[in-house]
Amino acid sequence: MKLEEYVQELSKRFADNEVYFGHGTENSYDEAVYLVFGVLGLDHNDVIENLSRELTKYELDILERKAEQRIGNHIPVAYIIGEAWFAGFKFFSDTRALIPRSPIAELIENKFEPLLEEHPAKILDLCTGSGCIGIATAKYFKDSQVDISDNDRTCLNLAEKNIAFHGLSGRVRPILSNLFENITDKYDLIICNPPYVSKEEYDDLPNEYSHEPCSGLISEDSGLAVSKRVLYEASEYLSKNGRLVMEVGFSDQELVRCYPSAPFLWLDFDRGGRGVFMLTAVQLAEFFQDLN
Ligand SMILES: C[S@@+](CC[C@H](N)C(=O)[O-])C[C@H]1O[C@@H](n2cnc3c(N)ncnc32)[C@H](O)[C@@H]1O
Repeated sequence: MKLEEYVQELSKRFADNEVYFGHGTENSYDEAVYLVFGVLGLDHNDVIENLSRELTKYELDILERKAEQRIGNHIPVAYIIGEAWFAGFKFFSDTRALIPRSPIAELIENKFEPLLEEHPAKILDLCTGSGCIGIATAKYFKDSQVDISDNDRTCLNLAEKNIAFHGLSGRVRPILSNLFENITDKYDLIICNPPYVSKEEYDDLPNEYSHEPCSGLISEDSGLAVSKRVLYEASEYLSKNGRLVMEVGFSDQELVRCYPSAPFLWLDFDRGGRGVFMLTAVQLAEFFQDLN
């Protein structure tokens, strides 16, 4: 069987078996390519050449075992193959941290244009998980110092592996911290993708999400407990012209309901995604600091 035929067949099986896409791809064909190329260690740059190659019996057996994990157990591809792509870069991915998929990738690829007033010399990725946001940002801002922090030691272990993989040990510093508790610097840019799913919403999520650590997804207070703490405290950790870019996903409406007059700048994405806003240090100080 040719690889292309197998991909087509697998794509149909994904579609027929209520496999959920949303951890890196958007449709059954892309999901099948992601799994097959990942399992066989094939280069996505040589798609045409690889699609026309014949599969060996050994390869077919391995692919079938992995396909069963995806279809039968609803394990996301990133966890099956141990890697995910984010902002054009490869990251190690396993069940220690959420699978990278934030729309913030698009902002990173555009170097946060036109949101920043000046070059960000110091950047903080708060709630870093696998480290994907901070590490990808460090790749785009080649002379910035980037701190990445999480309150989960196991996440930080994975992030440290990703820092080393990208050769960034001198410029990206992991910090174990419950939000700002162990943060002492001031930053020109704080990027934060915190947990923002309410317990009720979590129960309704597709099976795929049950393989991810729930501490990366669930937050109290209708999903907004962690986000609100960041809003109250961020201004103290930003430089004068600093910016906070934060994702709250589909909790955006609830956030606006809580703070109807807050000057959130909601950002648009070409590749899809929602619920990411920007606030300046001045806006955060004026609007949120006193709520702490
Ligand atoms: C939605 S995940 C985001 C991971 C990563 N930034 C990404 O985009 O893939 C949220 C992360 O926040 C971390 N987290 C949750 N509560 C936290 C807290 N109070 N302080 C620091 N990190 C926290 C979780 O461990 C998890 O890694």
